[in-house]
Formats: sequence, C-alpha cells, structure tokens
Amino acid sequence: MMRAFIAVDVSSGPAITALQKDIIAAAHGFSSVLRPVEPQNLHFTLLFLGEISDSDAAGIHSKLRSLRFEPFDLSYVGVGAFPRPESARVIWVGVDQEGGRRLEELARMVVGAASEVGFKPDKPFSPHLTVFRVKSRKPVNMGGTLGKFENVSFGRERVESFHLKKSELTPRGPVYSNVYTVEGRS
Ligand code: 2AM
Repeated sequence: MMRAFIAVDVSSGPAITALQKDIIAAAHGFSSVLRPVEPQNLHFTLLFLGEISDSDAAGIHSKLRSLRFEPFDLSYVGVGAFPRPESARVIWVGVDQEGGRRLEELARMVVGAASEVGFKPDKPFSPHLTVFRVKSRKPVNMGGTLGKFENVSFGRERVESFHLKKSELTPRGPVYSNVYTVEGRS
C-alpha cells in the first residue's frame, strides 16, 4: 500500500522561497507556528487518493495514460488561506484566471479517469499551491498578514506533465516521490 496523490510539480522554488520569507517576516507573532513547504515538495494537487495498492496505482495509470492534454502556462497571483485567512490551517498561493481554468480542466480530466476505476475526490478542486501548514492545534488568524500579499504576482510556470506521487511520512516531514508521469503534448 502507498499514500498517493496526483499532482503537478512546480519549478518556481526560489521565488516561492523568497515569498515564504516575506510572509514569515510579516507574520510577527505567528511565524513560529508556520511550517513552510520545502521547495522540492511544492506541488498542485489534482487528486488526493489516500492509501492505495500497487494494483490500484496500475489501474489508475491505465486510464491516465490515454489522457491527452496540451502543455500550458500559469502565473502566481495572490496569497490566501484554508479554511479562511482569519482561521488559517494552510496558506497558499493562487494562480491567474486562465492558468487556474486550465488547471481545473486538467483536474476534471484526471478525476474523470480515476473515477472509472472507483476513485472519487474528497473535496472539490480549487487551484492553489500550499506554501505553509500551520503547526499549532488551533488555526491562526492570518487575516491582517495575508492582506498585504493579496496583490502579489510573479512567476511563470509551464505545466507539461503530472505525476502519481507517493508520500512517505517521516518525523522530519513528508517525502514525496514520483511513481509515474503523464506527459502533455501539443
Ligand atoms: P493541500 O496542499 O491543500 O494540503 C498530499 O497530502 C497532498 O494532497 C497535499 O498537497 C494536500 O493538499 C492534498 N490533499 C487533499 N486532500 C487531502 C487529504 N484528505 N489528506 C491529506 N492530503 C490531502
């Protein structure tokens, strides 16, 4: 069995690292409870699968490999939090409208393919790149801090492929590795 999800990798690690530092600097009292996502772990989740077997992974692959999607670009716009900035558990960076639309389209295709072999999303897709998780048991009020970042805009990300990823939880955080990759083509 493996803990798995389907995701797009990002290559804007240095720009995201710089933004994480700016958010920490602006977060005064909360900086110690914000755990940044490490650059190599940054991704857009298209579908979270949970614990699956090797044969589930193969079944999903057989559906995903026949998907056709064209590579596309997205850029980063704004910073927000789930479930909401005043009660944050996860802090994320958003994407531009067209990039978000393309990511949604890709997620819809992936969800459609995975549903043919019995997998369903646990929540509706919302394009976001998680950049911090809140370590404390209680969510924190990041409303004032995140307001300063609502207009940030940077980066250009080319989405050319997505991966089935395996997540191994270790005391030092999750370690992700790619089980297989599906490439887009124009
Ligand atoms: P998040 O980034 O919004 O927290 C691996 O755990 C990835 O799957 C994370 O990026 C996480 O999203 C996403 N995910 C979606 N649903 C999940 C769930 N029920 N449990 C854990 N991770 C989930």
